[in-house]
Amino acid sequence: MSLPDLSLARAAIAACRQRPGGLCVLTGAGMSAESGIATFRDALTGYWARFDPAELASVAGFRADPARVWRWYAERREGVRRAQPNAGHRALAAFEARHPGALVLVTQNVDDLHQRAGHAAVLRLHGDILDEQWLGPCAKRQAGGPACDPAQAQRGDPPRCEACGNLVRPGVVWFGESLPIAALARAEQAAADCAVMLVVGTSGAVWPAAGLAEHAARHGAQVVIVNPAPSEIDDQAHWLLRGTAAEVLPRLLEAP
Ligand code: OAD
Repeated sequence: MSLPDLSLARAAIAACRQRPGGLCVLTGAGMSAESGIATFRDALTGYWARFDPAELASVAGFRADPARVWRWYAERREGVRRAQPNAGHRALAAFEARHPGALVLVTQNVDDLHQRAGHAAVLRLHGDILDEQWLGPCAKRQAGGPACDPAQAQRGDPPRCEACGNLVRPGVVWFGESLPIAALARAEQAAADCAVMLVVGTSGAVWPAAGLAEHAARHGAQVVIVNPAPSEIDDQAHWLLRGTAAEVLPRLLEAP
């Protein structure tokens, strides 16, 4: 694929450098694809092309077969731990380092590759796959005491609280669950405040994250989309850059 002409989008982004929150970036699974982490909806290779999200990404699915779901996430965690940030992650982190405060980074990704590339503050809309939390409310906490620590749970597939039998689940947002309220509110504010909204590697199929580009555009931002394939939010784009994150971002964000 030949790379698109980036000059106008690059100029719009360069104009954000001196403005706090001038550039809001939303990333999706395609951001980490070149780090070897599968996306969800790409034909053949995406997780949801091979697995049923109702079985593997919902509370009902976890309750129906906790061991299968736990092992699936354990395998994905291993993949995340082995993966390394790619040139796209590094280009975003370098931009943030050169222009502190100019970029607000919002991600749907549950890996930690943005953080390992050097971003201290990432608004994580869909949680953290390396995190563990209780499936149900902690009984001790509800009785007024300190909550039991999931890290102390009896190991197993999945780990289980010795005191009350509560199960440990991965710290990701599943279908039917609410997004973290504070992170979502800050992401919506950042989209409303920015001059350029840069959307990288998302199909735009999952809400409310998918609505951030339109939210930004409605508040006057220019929208730049980086994706090698069409997405459901392409109609929001002022600039549609057909290419991959690792190819396009280093050129789009390079120092002048
Ligand atoms: P999807 O799998 O839906 O979309 C991935 C997008 O990345 C597609 O539009 C691809 O064309 C694009 N893509 C593939 N390779 C790329 C590359 N190298 N560079 C740039 N783009 C590339 O992933 P998301 O939109 O992130 O939820 O999916 C949203 C949510 O649905 C995920 O956060 C996940 C899933 O269920 C949770 O994990 C809670």
